[in-house]
Amino acid sequence: MAQTEYVQTQIQQMVQRALAHASAGTTDSTDEIYRLPVESYSPKSWEEEMNAIFRRLPLMLALSCELPEPGCYKAMKVLDVPVLIVRGEDMRLRAFINACTHRGRAVTQTHDEKGKLKAFSCPYHAWRFATDGRLLTIADQRKFGELDKSLLGLRELHCEERVGFVWVCITRGIRFDIDDYLGDMQKELAGLEADKWFLHGTSRLESANWKITHDGYLESYHIPFLHRNTLYEFWNRESSTSVSLYDHFGPLPCGPHQRMGGNAWGNDPALMLKMKDVPPSEYTDKHFHAVRTLFPHISISADKHGGLVSQMFPVAPDRCITIQNHVNPRNPATESPEDTEAMKKRIALYAKIVYDEDYVSSFSIQEGLKSGANTELLFGRNEGGAINFHKSVAHYVQAYRDDKAAGRV
Ligand code: FES
Repeated sequence: MAQTEYVQTQIQQMVQRALAHASAGTTDSTDEIYRLPVESYSPKSWEEEMNAIFRRLPLMLALSCELPEPGCYKAMKVLDVPVLIVRGEDMRLRAFINACTHRGRAVTQTHDEKGKLKAFSCPYHAWRFATDGRLLTIADQRKFGELDKSLLGLRELHCEERVGFVWVCITRGIRFDIDDYLGDMQKELAGLEADKWFLHGTSRLESANWKITHDGYLESYHIPFLHRNTLYEFWNRESSTSVSLYDHFGPLPCGPHQRMGGNAWGNDPALMLKMKDVPPSEYTDKHFHAVRTLFPHISISADKHGGLVSQMFPVAPDRCITIQNHVNPRNPATESPEDTEAMKKRIALYAKIVYDEDYVSSFSIQEGLKSGANTELLFGRNEGGAINFHKSVAHYVQAYRDDKAAGRV
């Protein structure tokens, strides 16, 4: 099926499902309430999740638009692994452990920077590495001694680029099949046309445990309450959170990747009636909104006109860092001053709302879990996205335990 046909079919299905739910006063619903023991947020569970998930699965670490040209690089730390992603002269993206093969210093100045270079010169003793990782020169090699440079390139990590997104596994030696891992989510992502996006700005936000943080991106049940004076107000005229559609994509019965959709014609019954007169062939992405999540740590609230891509990075059992990336197909270099100003305001606004409302709540939930008040957390039948996420976590943790028991890790 051609991409445009796929997108149009999905839009028609989403709008029809949303209309049926809105008429009946229902929403997508799971068979039962899901119960998750509080211990699954403990430091011990966190360690196991990092080994089972973040060190073994492909992580979406960059957008293609961050690395548009040969020599563009991004240095970052993921857990305790310094990662360097760089586009080579052949336009291929590669990822490396950002540690010089002389004595291990990062070959960039810091572990958190972006730039463009013809080669990396290690700041410590100036060994030089090509953008494809090869060791080019050893400073003062005659005095240093003989070495086989071909064995001393930067240590490579498996990296794949698809439809405007870049995945890396942070453990050396682990390979992955990104097409298999994404399944039909790749078609969903292709519909975003992210390869035409530009990055307009980022924010960095701190929150509590990564799963508490992620939970907030996986259901719209909380929107009219936690965000009643902000997002709910902004969206209410154009969209409703009363109907939520949950779909999953990928190799597991629960995803692990997801699309959460909602109707976009408002809570106004008159508007809904009008919507019923629109023939399905005329439904567009203006008639529904969707948030897509890429397991384990990405939320994409965007369409082909742009939006927000949030990357969540666990750093400790009770801490997670989110990078909010604001993207759209307009080149910021040629935008009007008014558009630039509007984007600045949008970036500040979304950082404030997500921190003040979602992430302040995440710290409060963390305290609530520690308090001993509850033995389990409850996820309702209307919170199918969060349920699929926790089932996916459980799946990968169990697979890791099985591999460990069988001596495969
Ligand atoms: S540690 Fe890089 S050149 Fe010495």
